[in-house]
Amino acid sequence: MKSSTPPATEPSPDEPVGPGAVGPDGAARSREVRTWDPAVRLFHWLLVALLAVSWYTGETGGLDEMTWHMWSGSAVLALILFRIAWGLVGSTTARFGHFLHGPGETMRYAAGLVRRSPPHYAGHTPLGGWMIALMLLCLLVQAGTGMFANDDIVTEGPLVGWVSKETSDWLTTIHKWNFEVLLVLAGVHVAAVLYYLLVLRRNLLTAMFTGRKPLADGEAPPALRFASPLLAVLLAAGTAGGVWLLVR
Ligand code: HEM
Ligand code: HEM
Repeated sequence: MKSSTPPATEPSPDEPVGPGAVGPDGAARSREVRTWDPAVRLFHWLLVALLAVSWYTGETGGLDEMTWHMWSGSAVLALILFRIAWGLVGSTTARFGHFLHGPGETMRYAAGLVRRSPPHYAGHTPLGGWMIALMLLCLLVQAGTGMFANDDIVTEGPLVGWVSKETSDWLTTIHKWNFEVLLVLAGVHVAAVLYYLLVLRRNLLTAMFTGRKPLADGEAPPALRFASPLLAVLLAAGTAGGVWLLVR
């Protein structure tokens, strides 16, 4: 775990410019820093889309819908496994070691949040980091239990044969209750993004599309390393292929 923000370095030529700085075209440019790599952004928005499909098809529950449900749920499993791997070997801001901070720093951040002046972080904030770890765990439980779930009619998760009917029923119950937990976490997550936007006047959302975050006045650009997109593609192919072999 990391207890401080990354050390500051000189900005690279294509990176941030100072407040009030002027670009080659003479127009004013704001200070920004590249924060999220394409893998993290694609992961996030694919996850949101697949969760919507999984939610709709799981609740509707028809035969065709459940077939789609198992495909979208399996895709979520592959995404989460990819994200865990990316959290170990990916770009700086994607790494668990970068965004999971100790209790001291997390509490200090929480105190700053209460005062409405939390410090800026290039990646996830200490509280946000733990929330994201919790969401990833919850998503892993959701997709993992789905593999062993049954609806007592015709639909069965692809790995249901690995466990007894009793265990499958128990995992199905967890699948249903954990989904409620997931909804609460997602609700808190979106509420937090809106709180930052509307109350703290910090826009986190645009960066999840563009990959770039504005720097605060006087904030030094952090030293971030971005992993190769080819590595991301290989990891994504590996996790998707592994899950496909499991469920086909
Ligand atoms: C993270 C992704 C997933 C989400 C959000 C999700 C969500 C849901 C929801 C909301 C239900 C309806 C629960 C109810 O009737 O109250 C459901 C049922 C079910 N899901 Fe998933 N699920 C996911 C992943 C999976 C996966 C990967 C599989 C299997 C490959 C799966 C298999 C099932 C089965 C068999 C049921 C029927 C259980 C029943 O109706 O008693 N799910 N899921
Ligand atoms: C549907 C449920 C959602 C889930 C499960 C979810 C999950 C996540 C996860 C796991 C991350 C961390 C990304 C990473 O490091 O790879 C994240 C970040 C983020 N999400 Fe979501 N998300 C959801 C919906 C949304 C929605 C609807 C919005 C837009 C309002 C949103 C905005 C963001 C933003 C702005 C960040 C970056 C936060 C930061 O700067 O630290 N999310 N989300």
